Amino acid sequence: MSTIKKIAISTGGGDAPGLNAVIRAAVIAAINRGWEVVGIRDGYNGILLPKQYPQGGVFALTRREVRGITHLGGTILGTTNKGNPMNYPVQQPDGTFKETDRTGELVDGMRKQGIDALISIGGDGSLTIANAIAQKGMKVVGVPKTIDNDLDRTVMTFGFDTAVSFATECIDRLHSTAESHRRVMVVEVMGRYAGWIALNSGISGTADAILIPEIPYDIEKVADKIRAREKGGSHFSIVVVAEGAMAKGGSRAVIGNEVGRLERLGGAGERVAKELQAATGKESRCVVLGHLLRGGSPTTFDRLISLRFGAAAVRALDEGQSGVMVALDPPAVRYVPLSEATHRMKVVPLDCDTILTGRDLGVCFGD
Ligand code: F6P
Repeated sequence: MSTIKKIAISTGGGDAPGLNAVIRAAVIAAINRGWEVVGIRDGYNGILLPKQYPQGGVFALTRREVRGITHLGGTILGTTNKGNPMNYPVQQPDGTFKETDRTGELVDGMRKQGIDALISIGGDGSLTIANAIAQKGMKVVGVPKTIDNDLDRTVMTFGFDTAVSFATECIDRLHSTAESHRRVMVVEVMGRYAGWIALNSGISGTADAILIPEIPYDIEKVADKIRAREKGGSHFSIVVVAEGAMAKGGSRAVIGNEVGRLERLGGAGERVAKELQAATGKESRCVVLGHLLRGGSPTTFDRLISLRFGAAAVRALDEGQSGVMVALDPPAVRYVPLSEATHRMKVVPLDCDTILTGRDLGVCFGD
C-alpha cells in the first residue's frame, strides 16, 4: 500500500495534443485510489511566482475539472517554456540576470501544500527538471510529451502522431496548388534538433525532398532533384524542411534569443525557398506550419497513449516508483529511469528504415 494522499500534476514546455487526456486519466485513476489531486499552474510558476496568481497557483483537480477534456488540445493547467527552476533567471540590482537553482524552493513549496508526489508531463527540459526534483526527495513520475518525438527510451511521445497527421494533410493539399502553378512549395515544420515530423510527414505526403537537422544539406543536390523532375515532365516539387535543418557547414536559422529560454528558431524554410528559386529559376514559395502542429484535437493514437500514460503514471506512484518516466514499448507501457530518458536527444538514426524507404523511393535528403 502506498502512503500517498495528495499528488500534483504539472505540464511544462511547449504544449502538445494529448496533454488534457493525460491529466484526465491521471486525475481519475488517482481519485479512484482515494488520493487528492491538485494542478500547478503554468509549469511551476503557480508555486514559484505566487503573486502572479491571486486566485491560487495550485488548484484542486476533481472529476468536474477533467470532464470532457480528452479531445481538447492545449492544457487546462497552462504551461511555460521560460524560467527553468534549475537555472532560473533572477534579475540583479544592476539589471543583469543571474541563473539561480530554485528546485529546493519548489520542493519546499510543494511540501507546504501537502503534496506527496508529482506527475510531471513534459519533454526533455521538463523531465530533466523532474529528475532534479526527484533527487531532492519528492516522489516523481514523468510522462513523455513533445510533438518533436525527440525523447529517448520511449518508442513515441504523445502529440507526435497528431502533428505528423496534420503536416501530412497540409502536404497533400499543397500538391495540387504546386502542380497548378508549376511551383516549388517548401513546407517548414517544427523539429528543433530532430527531424521526425519532417521525415514521417514528408515520406507519407510523398515529398520530393526532405531536409532534417540530422543531415546537413547541399542546396545544389535539392536543386538537381527539382531539375530532374522538370526534365521528366513534373513541373512542381514539394520540399519539407525541419525548422532546425541547416546547410553543410552552416547553422540553424535563429530569429531570437531571450534570457531563460531556448533560441527561437525561424526562417529555415524561407531560406531554402529563396536558394531554390535562385538555383532553378522556378518560383518557390514557403509555408510555415509552426504552432498549427501543436494545436487541435489529438488523433485516436495520441488520445489512447495519453490516457494510458496518465493511468500508468498513477500506477507507478502507487507501486512506489519514483524518478521514472512512463514509456511506450509496444504493446506495453513501461517505467524507465528519468535520467536515461533525458541523457541524450532521440534523433533520427541515418540508417533507420524510414530514411532507407525514402532513399529507395528517390526522395532527396540534400546529401
Ligand atoms: O515542442 C518543441 C517545439 O515544438 C520545437 O520544435 C520548437 O522549436 C519549439 O517547440 C517552439 O516553441 P515556442 O514557440 O512555444 O517557444
